[in-house]
Amino acid sequence: MATARYDKPDFWSRKAFSEGYPARSVYKLQEIDEKFRFLKPHTKVLDLGASPGSWTVFVLRKLENTGHITSIDLSPLAKNVRGDNLTFIQGDMTDAAVRERAAALGPYQLVICDAAPATTGNRIIDTSRSTGLVEMAIYYAEAMLNSGGNCVIKVFQGGDQQGLLKKMRGLFAAAKGFKPEACRAESFETYLIGINKK
Ligand SMILES: C[S@@+](CC[C@H](N)C(=O)[O-])C[C@H]1O[C@@H](n2cnc3c(N)ncnc32)[C@H](O)[C@@H]1O
Repeated sequence: MATARYDKPDFWSRKAFSEGYPARSVYKLQEIDEKFRFLKPHTKVLDLGASPGSWTVFVLRKLENTGHITSIDLSPLAKNVRGDNLTFIQGDMTDAAVRERAAALGPYQLVICDAAPATTGNRIIDTSRSTGLVEMAIYYAEAMLNSGGNCVIKVFQGGDQQGLLKKMRGLFAAAKGFKPEACRAESFETYLIGINKK
C-alpha cells in the first residue's frame, strides 16, 4: 500500500486478512458495489492500481468464475491472489506499452482505479500526482469501456474534482463523487463514479 496510514494493522485489516483479502481497502469497494451494483457475473473488468489485490479478489468472487479481470500495478499482487479469469500486468499504467496490453484484453464493462501515488506528505504534490492518475484512468475509460460501461476512480481531495467530474460527464450519462464510510475519517481520498458510458 502506498500510504503509511494504512500500514498499521487494525480491526479492519485483520478482518480483511481473515476473509482472504490482502488489504482493508476491500471494504471501500464493497460499499461502492452495494450502492451502485456494477459487479455482476460475466463482466469484463479493468483494475488499475490493483496491488496487493483486495479489489481484484472481491471482483473475482463477484464474477463467480465467469467474465474476466485485468489487473495492473507497479507492484506484484499478493501470492494468494489468482484466478483462471485474472490477467495481471506488472507495470506503470501511464506507460503506452501497458495501455496497449490492457486494450488488447478489452473492451471492458467496468474500470476501477484505486491507484494512489507514493505520498510525500506535501498535500499539493500528492494531490496533483493523484489527479494525473485520475486523468489517465479517465483516458482508459474513454478508450476501453464499452458503451453502457461504468467506472470508479479514486482521487485525493483538494484538487480540481469538479473539473474531473465535468470531463467525466462528457463521457458518461452521469458522474458523481462518493466517499465510502470505510475511508478513514482522516483520509483525504474519495471516489469519482462514472455511470453508463455514452
Ligand atoms: C491503495 S493501493 C491499491 C490497493 C488495491 N485496490 C487493493 O485493494 O489491494 C494503490 C496502488 O496504486 C499503485 N500505483 C500507483 N501509481 C501507479 C502507476 N503509475 N501504475 C500502476 N500502479 C500504480 C501502487 O503501486 C499501489 O499498489
